[in-house]
Amino acid sequence: MSIIEQAIKLLKDGKLVAIPTETVYGLGADARNPDALQKIYVAKGRPSSNPLIIHLPSPDAIVDWAIDIPKEAELLANAFWPGPLTLILKKHPSVPSIATGGQDSIALRIPNHPLTLALLKGFGSGIAAPSANRSGRISPTTAEHVREELGDKVDLILDGGPCQVGIESSIVSLLNDTPIILREGSISASQMSTVLGKAVLSRSEIAKLQASETLVHVPGESSSHYAPSKPLYLVEKQQWMDTLQQIFEKKQNVDVISFSKSSFEHPQVVQWLEAPLNPEWFAQQLYGVLRRFDNSRSDCIVVEMPPQKESWFAIIDRLQRASSPLN
Ligand code: TXA
Ligand code: MG
Repeated sequence: MSIIEQAIKLLKDGKLVAIPTETVYGLGADARNPDALQKIYVAKGRPSSNPLIIHLPSPDAIVDWAIDIPKEAELLANAFWPGPLTLILKKHPSVPSIATGGQDSIALRIPNHPLTLALLKGFGSGIAAPSANRSGRISPTTAEHVREELGDKVDLILDGGPCQVGIESSIVSLLNDTPIILREGSISASQMSTVLGKAVLSRSEIAKLQASETLVHVPGESSSHYAPSKPLYLVEKQQWMDTLQQIFEKKQNVDVISFSKSSFEHPQVVQWLEAPLNPEWFAQQLYGVLRRFDNSRSDCIVVEMPPQKESWFAIIDRLQRASSPLN
């Protein structure tokens, strides 16, 4: 039996299979099997109100999972699937409610990874898969990370190499006339807006609106998330030296991600990563670097704030969720 055939059999038996995608690894189960879905929540320690993303074998399958599908869904699917974009639509009544955390909406995407596309085609149905990490922790971008996170809680890990994009998919809600970005990812509001020929509201635009509280609510998407276990300080260039000075005074060791070379040697700096000003590179490396820094002998992590440009929004979002206030 090939590894894909094994994975298909496990899914059909209601087991958990970790799957590679272009964004991060997912913890997969048969999206039509409530008992299998329950295992995902248990393995991750995920609150049962936090809905899952359903991965589809083909765009035609949308009609089996959603109803009242607007034309925007087809336009975005044609433009970006397979790829790092998740669509929120009205849920089809046949989908078990545990798949959507009790919501009457549903999250759908087709991931762009050859192994997982082959698995989806062979399985012939939807695979529910949240990121394959314990709840609240850094998402895995290699098979090894999945092993570290979930060990034997997962029945099979399909090793598809390091994830190419490195951060989770963009999530856009199509439940209202104006599409709204619920989670920033590598596909931007302006890319979607170009395809749709109409405005797509990004988080930063929503923040400017009065009704922001009700509009941007994403179930389970708490502000603290994707976090290493040691404090991460996200620092503007101007506060850079002051912050490091404070850390040195507290006798703490530090790992650093900066866009410039270290201009000094200091015994309390454990690792200094000089990142290029390239958001694709940064996204691809981010979670692996945070994991490495989390396991080092440092006491904290300091990251220089990237430029406030659309191409960096998804990265800034993840860094903000991972960060702690400096006091
Ligand atoms: O790139 C990705 O999207 C990865 C890979 C594995 O596909 N998956 C992923 O899943 O990041 P997860 O569970 O870690 O994040 C899914 C997010 C959650 O924040 C959840 O609240 C949101 O999607 N979501 C799912 N269904 C939703 C719904 N019906 N309405 C609003 N948000 C939803
Ligand atoms: Mg996640």
